[in-house]
Amino acid sequence: MQTADMITPNGYVRRWWKAAVVYQVYPRSFYDSNGDGIGDLRGIIAKLDHIKGLGVDVIWLSPHFDSPNADNGYDIRDYRRVGAEFGTMADFDDLLAAIKAAGMRLIIDLVVNHTSDEHAWFAESRSSRDNPKRDYYIWSDHKPNDWTSIFGGSAWTQDASGDWYLHLFDPKQPDLNWDNPAVRHDVYDLMRFWLDKGVDGFRMDVIPFISKDKSFPDLPEDLRAKPQYVYANGPYVHDYLHEMNRDVLSQYDVMTVGEAFGVTLVDTPKLIDERRQELDMIFQFAAVEVDRGPDGRWRPWRLTDLKAVFARQDAALDRHCWPTVFLSNHDNPRIVSRFGDDSQQWREKSAMLLATLILTMKGTPFIYQGDEMGLTNRAFSDISQFNDLWTLNAWRDEVESGQWRPEAFFANQNRLSRDHARMPIPWTAEGGFTTGTPWFALNPNFAEINATTGQDIYDHYARLIALRHANPALIYGDYEDIAPDHPQIFAYRRTLGDTSFLIILNFSSEAVAFDCPARAPILANDNGSTGELAGWDARIYRLD
Ligand code: NOJ
Repeated sequence: MQTADMITPNGYVRRWWKAAVVYQVYPRSFYDSNGDGIGDLRGIIAKLDHIKGLGVDVIWLSPHFDSPNADNGYDIRDYRRVGAEFGTMADFDDLLAAIKAAGMRLIIDLVVNHTSDEHAWFAESRSSRDNPKRDYYIWSDHKPNDWTSIFGGSAWTQDASGDWYLHLFDPKQPDLNWDNPAVRHDVYDLMRFWLDKGVDGFRMDVIPFISKDKSFPDLPEDLRAKPQYVYANGPYVHDYLHEMNRDVLSQYDVMTVGEAFGVTLVDTPKLIDERRQELDMIFQFAAVEVDRGPDGRWRPWRLTDLKAVFARQDAALDRHCWPTVFLSNHDNPRIVSRFGDDSQQWREKSAMLLATLILTMKGTPFIYQGDEMGLTNRAFSDISQFNDLWTLNAWRDEVESGQWRPEAFFANQNRLSRDHARMPIPWTAEGGFTTGTPWFALNPNFAEINATTGQDIYDHYARLIALRHANPALIYGDYEDIAPDHPQIFAYRRTLGDTSFLIILNFSSEAVAFDCPARAPILANDNGSTGELAGWDARIYRLD
């Protein structure tokens, strides 16, 4: 039952996950405790004070399961086993206990649109046409349509039987057939397995893709470069998510956040309106797509476009829907290189400005590991320096075939590659990630840019999180952009009842005259912050 104090003055139901700040750990690259060069679960335990010190409430752990790692763990071979490179189930239990003891919660990745082709279900499914598990995946005796894999090439691969199976990602990631009730039953069972251990919810990988239109129409011409907008709109996605909620999620006090690749703002409420009982939140992609052209390649972005994303999101979601705020994760470049200025002069300050944006915006904020240190992209110049299969496939399909010049390819990858975020964390000026050979090279700038030299940025994150936690207006408050057309300044109010905050961010290295309150801000990224805004100034004023 809801009581009056559970409702904010502007009508939101208060929930722990709305007030939470989430920190994402990509375990392979976080910290290696045993010298094998790969980050592991004991490594996270060893660095828990670093996470706790920020004041975050929830850790999102990217996949830690048994996997052949075609896609770094997003291809799961056994949902109930910890990847040997990460440790054991006992290590997982210790990590969970340590997180709880530190007063935080843990959500894990649920990757159930597809499995690895090495999962026992697929081994059985592909073994013969009449195997009982044949219908766990999506097979056809001909290639039914022109769907493409998100990672390039056809989404259909012909197997030894002569039949074709569907994979919206790599051929090593066959898509599960959610129309089969036995598949749904088994997925719900594995969810209970982890929930019964005490995990506090799931980040759900490409969850809107689970339902397929089995009439398999070809891709419409205008969505050929963006097939995710087709894949995310299958006929039964809402039925299945509602069923999952009813049978599993509603039985626990947990949070869910769906990765909603291909979901428009208009369709967002269908997934997260609390009255529908599907998901709590989704990751909407509009903000991290402001610098991508219609062909998916990088193009310069404008602050007014980024501001418009937040304004549109706010207008599209009423008090029954709760947004997320993120500008980086393991699939995106480093936040400061993308939206800030990673030059020596402005890197620290612009990293702090971006933290200010994320942690004062409406919605649950997600921080990606290393952003609190101001880590940057690197300049890749040779294909051998990459790890991500998406990049390697694109090289094979688009550069080796002569469609794209190598220089243009590297220029694009140096903006957008997922590998920027996947380099191991430099804990010290010596590297400090492992005593062995790292599975993937650290950013060559680790001697200058690392956890130690990033202490001021870290402290700023911690101050912002403490401020957010102490002020419901920064969590639930109404959002109002007060200068939507200004080319350099992002300025907005957050208001709840009588309390109002004004946030002013200068997204440029130029000094800008802007009408700021005469008094000192309550928090800023520059000590002497009053009067004209200096480059990358970020200020928070309390207006009451
Ligand atoms: C989204 C994940 O975030 C990404 O890393 C992965 O490659 C795809 N889904 C496929 O699972």
